[in-house]
Amino acid sequence: MAGERPMSKPLLIVGGTVVDPAAKRDGRFDVLIEDGLIADVHPSLKALDGVDVIDAKGKLVLPGFVDLHVHFRQPGREDKETIETGSQAAARGGFTAVCPMPNTDPVVDHGGAVEWVTHEARRVGLVDVHPIGALTKGQHGQELTDFGELFDAGCAALSDDGKPLINPLLMRRALEYSKVFGRPVIQHAEDPSLSAGGVIHEGVVSTTLGLRGIPAESEATIVARDLALVALTGGWLHVAHVSCAESVELIRHAKRQGAHVTCEVTPHHLALTHEAVEGFRTEAKVNPPLRGDDDRLALIEGLKDGTIDCIATDHAPHTDWEKDADFDTAPFGISGLETAFGVCVTTLIEAGHLSWGQLVQSLSINPSRIAGINGHGLVKGQPANLTLVDPKATWIVDPKQFVSKGTNTPFAGARLSGRVVKTIRQGTVIG
Ligand code: DOR
Ligand code: ZN
Repeated sequence: MAGERPMSKPLLIVGGTVVDPAAKRDGRFDVLIEDGLIADVHPSLKALDGVDVIDAKGKLVLPGFVDLHVHFRQPGREDKETIETGSQAAARGGFTAVCPMPNTDPVVDHGGAVEWVTHEARRVGLVDVHPIGALTKGQHGQELTDFGELFDAGCAALSDDGKPLINPLLMRRALEYSKVFGRPVIQHAEDPSLSAGGVIHEGVVSTTLGLRGIPAESEATIVARDLALVALTGGWLHVAHVSCAESVELIRHAKRQGAHVTCEVTPHHLALTHEAVEGFRTEAKVNPPLRGDDDRLALIEGLKDGTIDCIATDHAPHTDWEKDADFDTAPFGISGLETAFGVCVTTLIEAGHLSWGQLVQSLSINPSRIAGINGHGLVKGQPANLTLVDPKATWIVDPKQFVSKGTNTPFAGARLSGRVVKTIRQGTVIG
């Protein structure tokens, strides 16, 4: 939900390269912002008196990133993250809008809770926050929530993320409702009986380390089941954090058949494999787990051919004391907002897999469409939500510098290419 539009000074961004495939722009443009809106995008604009100027020479000017999947932990675990610190981390990472998951304490499973989250996000006033409500009451998987109430309160989608919705009849009904409301049901695709208390991908690393493994089939069997229910209902399924080749192939096939399915992949699943866990590194413990290199390459291929619609961080901050536990006990999750862009540039652009236009499509245009955010893009008259990046900058990840409370990252010490320079929401610099 957007906050009040601030009346800021006009702002002129000069000398940058605008990349916005939705507006079919890829080239040298100046961008004028007035009253929080894009007033003009033109190859050459003059700075009039009273206009603040940002020199964007050598920088790319992109539509603000949208993250469909974050965990802000408030209410309940403010020691891990708050809406305020999460918003700060999002702004630092180039995101102008985020969708927090409902697995807080209490769970965001009714209209009042959604309103509380949006109210707090507005008080913080940094990024736009479009909450995701729970699919089932208390995320217990037993009884569906009141979808009408949750969507009326402003939810972008519904999900029991962190847990799968296993009951097939409830999933069928949820998909039927998704059609009525025109908003997606987001599934954390995992069969807990197949995961069987696993803590890492089932493969050579799990065997070597003597850790219980989670087979790829734990995800793929639920994806296959849900796609069958999409075919039955005509509902809209969005698969969260796809992690394995089998799921990509199932979704590719379903899309070819015309199914209403969308999906996301995380930067860590694109960049890393289960080898990152070697040495019992709990920073790399995440659910779904980092998998093999064949899976990783299949995810990249899925992103390239449009099977995977977008990149979402699954920003999952945890305290150091929890992550410092033994591997079985430490919680799943990676603090991802502040490294997402650099990881994507390094893994996808530098390695020659994606063009800048495709990356903008994945980080900005497609997720905004899935979240139901209207008028996203660098177009006259739209809210001025944009991200300035230095495509050439290289930097070393230092979690101590994070504004997120979660310093749990497997990228600590990594050298990344591509850095967010400024994030602008509704004409105001927020990060
Ligand atoms: O790694 C994860 N962390 N996966 C999830 O599904 C939940 C998340 C969390 O909430 O920490
Ligand atoms: Zn999640």
